[in-house]
This record gives sequence, C-alpha cells and structure tokens, in this order.
Amino acid sequence: MNYIKLAKEYGTPLYVYDGERIRNQYRTLQKAIPYKKLRILYAMKANYNLHILQILKQEGAGIDAVSVGDILMAKKAGFEIKDILFTANKITDTEMYEAQELGVLFNIGSLSRLEKYGAAYPGSNVCIRLNPDVVAGAHEFIKTGGESTKFGILLQDIDEVVRICSTHKLRVVGIHEHTGSGIPETVKMMQGIQNILEVVTKDRFPHLEFMDFGGGFKVAYKPTEDQKNYAKFGDTVTKLFTSFCESYGKDLEMYFEPGKYLVAESGSLIVEVTTLKQNRSKRIAGVNSGFAQLIRPMFYQAYHHITNLSNDNSKEVYDIVGNICESGDCFAVDRPIHKISEGDLLRIHTAGAYCYSMGSRYNLRAMPTELVIDNNQCFVKKRNTNLELIDSIISEY
Ligand SMILES: Cc1ncc(COP(=O)(O)O)c(C=O)c1O
Repeated sequence: MNYIKLAKEYGTPLYVYDGERIRNQYRTLQKAIPYKKLRILYAMKANYNLHILQILKQEGAGIDAVSVGDILMAKKAGFEIKDILFTANKITDTEMYEAQELGVLFNIGSLSRLEKYGAAYPGSNVCIRLNPDVVAGAHEFIKTGGESTKFGILLQDIDEVVRICSTHKLRVVGIHEHTGSGIPETVKMMQGIQNILEVVTKDRFPHLEFMDFGGGFKVAYKPTEDQKNYAKFGDTVTKLFTSFCESYGKDLEMYFEPGKYLVAESGSLIVEVTTLKQNRSKRIAGVNSGFAQLIRPMFYQAYHHITNLSNDNSKEVYDIVGNICESGDCFAVDRPIHKISEGDLLRIHTAGAYCYSMGSRYNLRAMPTELVIDNNQCFVKKRNTNLELIDSIISEY
C-alpha cells in the first residue's frame, strides 16, 4: 500500500483499509472452526464503513447489530433482515418498537426487557443473551462476563427466562453469550461456552436453531506479538458442540460474532506531524489528529504501533500526541520511531476496529476521509470539510 501517495491525493488525517486483509481474516477464522453449520456474524460496531460491510457480505457473513442505526446501515449494505441479529442492550421501548418494525431477531439480555418484549410481541421468536460467568478480555472496560458486569442474564436465572417465555409464548430459537474483547486466553472462551452448554437443555429450550458464542478473538497489536492461531480452539469447540447437538437431538447452527479479528489489522490512520517540541528531556511530535478520531490509546491504554512513512534513518524516542487540549490525548509515549521532522507522515497501525467507529466531533473537527482498497479498486468516503461539519451542526438547532 502506498500510503504516501494516498495521503498526497486525499489529504490527512486519512483512514485506509485493506479489503484483502479483511477477506483473509474471515477465511482464516472460518477455516479454523471446522463445524459444518458455522455462521460468522460481523460485529459491525467495530467498523460500520459501507464497503467493509459489503466485503463481509460477499464473504458470507451475517451481522451482529447493536442499534437501530446499525440495522439500517446493514440493510443499506445489502444484508437481509434474516441475516441480522439485534443485540438489544439497555434499549428503550421506542428502540424496541423501531427494531421490531424492521423485523429483526432480538437478542435479549435482561429479564425486564424479556418481560416487556414478550408482553408487546407474544408468540415471537427470540434469542436469549446469557452471562457466561467468566471474566476475560484485554482491558477492564471490555470484559463483559461475570456477575459484576451489566451484560446478559445470569445462569442462575435461567428458569425465570423459561417462565417468562412460556407466559408470553416466546419461542427461544437462539442462545447467546459474549465473554469479552481481545481475550488472550482461549481456555476462558471455552469455559464460557461450557458454562452455557451446561444450562441449555431441550426441556428448557425445545425450539433452538442456533447458539452464538460471541466475539473476542484477539489480534496482534504489537509487532513482537504472535498472531493467535485459533485452529486448536476451533477443533475443541467443534467437538464439544457436536456432542452437545447429539444430546440435544438436532444439528444446531453455531455462530460467532467477531469484530476486531476481522477488521482491526486492515486499517491504518495516516497523520501528519504539525509540531515538534523538545520539552527538556522529552521529544514531542504533535500530529493533525487526536482522540476524537482514534480513542483507543487514551480510552483503553491500547498500544498502536506507529511508523514514520517519510523517513527511515536512525530512531529517536518520541511522545506522539494529538491536537486536543487534554494531556491524555496521546497516541504513544516514549516510542522509538525513525527521526521525525515537521511535515512527516506517520502511520498508526491496526486502526481498523473501534477507531473510526468510536470517533466523535469533539473539538468540532470533521472525521477523516476513509479509503477501502479492495480488488484494485479504491472506495472513498470523503471527509466533510470543517465548514460542512459546522453547517450540519448548526442546522441541527
Ligand atoms: C455482544 C458483542 N458481540 C461481539 C462483539 C465483538 O467483539 P470483538 O470485536 O472483540 O470480536 C462485542 C464487542 O464488544 C459485543 O459486545
């Protein structure tokens, strides 16, 4: 990928995604899990770019959506409603009515919402989100299992789920769990799955069509980290689920819903160094982007590898900082990088997941242009100018 040429043509800051990488990740995961009725739902919260959605649709993915906006965007990308699962987390009644109007299958993770959904739509199909009772993930904020988190219905409440569903004649066609994001240990993923399988019986849920074991597949953010190989996990989960299905008496579909694994490594944010400073012993390189456009380092203390695209001479140690007036607005601290001059272009790596999609208009700067390079084509989502952004905000008043 010639990032310098792309930056010259489209300006910076600039998000660039490699479509081929996304396709490879999808195929690698699919191959790693040899279960015959496997479905991969893309957790589109990771990156909702239309062309990325379309690439994953071409590969055969379905969608894990978390809002009505997600559902509409997935539809725009060509997904059919039957290929979308709506994980309805802390939704309002209005969101429930809107999503139901669209005809999507709900994945419900609280007894109170199940009660309200059942009362409003008796006789519907539904998926139930259980809490796998395992704590795992790359950062405290993205560990979603265990009793101290706000997600899913506790396993001890399973009979209450059965009771509510029977009262409202809801047909439970799916059972779901999601343990966390960027999980380093596959044993923890397996433990979550085992915990769920122990409580799911034909007596309790006679109408199952699928079980969904969430996302959480890890990618390497540091160049020194090994790529995780999921083949052993895939074999183990296939054997376990096959034997579960034998005792259940039906070949259920098995879903996973990765976000990060599919798109993180495809993306880069290209920024330009606007300001170099020597603050006593610290060399500081300030760039024309900030946490409003890529928040992971500040939010999760996440590591993103950074390289200098303009210079490959000797390395110096830098803090790479953003353009927002908060000390935490920092992409890297004490990082050895090839010598930087003002005007140099830097590449922030592994910026395909939870980067653009977590962006905001804080400081009233427009989000960067995005490019998806796929099959020798370049799909462009052009940045608004700052004036266009302001006009659109003013028109909201
Ligand atoms: C319910 C659910 N499914 C899937 C995902 C995707 O996780 P990841 O991107 O780590 O694969 C998330 C992420 O937060 C989630 O909350």
